[in-house]
Amino acid sequence: MTRAVLAEHVSETRLWSRLRDLAAIGATPKGGVCRLALTREDGAARVMLAVWAKMRGYSVSEDAIGTLYIRREGSDPSLPPVMTGSHLDTQPTGGRFDGAYGVLAGFEVLEALDDAGVQTRRALEVVGWMNEEGARFQPGCMGSGVFAGAMPLAEMLAVADKTGATVGEAIAALPKIGPARNFGFPVHAYVEAHIEQGPRLEAAGDTIGIVTGIQGARWFAVEITGSEAHAGTTPRAQRKDALMTALNGIQALRAVMTDPDDQVRFTVGRMEVSPGSPNTVPGKVFFTIDFRHPDAATVQRLGDLVAPTLEANAGPCAIAVRETFTGPPVAFDALVVDQVAVATKALGYSHQSLPSGANHDAKFMARLCPTGMIFIPCLGGVSHNEAESATPADCVAGARVLAETLLALANT
Ligand code: HGY
Ligand code: MN
Ligand code: MN
Repeated sequence: MTRAVLAEHVSETRLWSRLRDLAAIGATPKGGVCRLALTREDGAARVMLAVWAKMRGYSVSEDAIGTLYIRREGSDPSLPPVMTGSHLDTQPTGGRFDGAYGVLAGFEVLEALDDAGVQTRRALEVVGWMNEEGARFQPGCMGSGVFAGAMPLAEMLAVADKTGATVGEAIAALPKIGPARNFGFPVHAYVEAHIEQGPRLEAAGDTIGIVTGIQGARWFAVEITGSEAHAGTTPRAQRKDALMTALNGIQALRAVMTDPDDQVRFTVGRMEVSPGSPNTVPGKVFFTIDFRHPDAATVQRLGDLVAPTLEANAGPCAIAVRETFTGPPVAFDALVVDQVAVATKALGYSHQSLPSGANHDAKFMARLCPTGMIFIPCLGGVSHNEAESATPADCVAGARVLAETLLALANT
């Protein structure tokens, strides 16, 4: 089959309409999406995908950590499949494209193969990884982490959200969407389409990002324990103020994490202060740290300073630092990166090669098989924000490059 034939069957209107349908599940008044992992909304999105898949005759299954698989058979079912996809869960103030685009671009490729009357040698599977965002249950990339054997299933099933509800309970409460699937089955290659979530493609006027890898990331959960006391009567010298300790520690870490070339990414995204009363000295504080950098040695060196820096500023309080996610930088396999470049050039799209600043499930898949990603621009590089936006033309361009890439990989 010549290169461009499949791409011509990738439909902009069908893809855009499915993006719109999916964005309606968990839609927020400001035009974004709140579809946290394993909530009713996430369950509804999975059911909708499963219905679409079954209408096309694809098989649907799910694994024990709640990841969804949609399979289009190849001519040789004994061969390991080629996989594509992303995640259906979003941030609390998320957008309509982060994750959803990769799942639906993959689904559009299956439909384009049907419309072109093409059967690939290897099966193609579209995956909806459970809990990539890590907003409700930490850490993120839980579905792909368990699939790749990097996160123990039992430990992840026991992870609880702020209300105490566990991953296992939340999975059990959702509608079943298909028969059980085991983890870690052999995969021939994995390709994920995603918005860039950064400004480079848009600034350069490029349509396609040929992604070379993903920077390193380490997440920490910090518990500080002091003691509650009366705000009016307790002298400073007698206070075990958990919030002041947290602020001192975070301030000290900011000095550690401030680099001249602005490569370090240091974020305290979640903080809970208890008892949360205006006139009681806080006795407990919980907060998270998300630290990233492209260089492996720097990820190791600065990440290893998190606990000692906080402990050195604990003052009269007790402090517990737990590392909840460790993802060293990954470089994607040339087999897939080059295939993405061939497809991009064959289709004539403007492009550049770039690393990913954002984390993706592809980081764990890169441990199992040749892996790569395709980026499209997003408006102003904005993401994890309800204003996140992409154009129909860029969405279909990414899906067309994905189609040609998957077709080539599925016939090797
Ligand atoms: O955190 C990340 O980088 C991803 O967008 N969830
Ligand atoms: Mn994402
Ligand atoms: Mn995200």
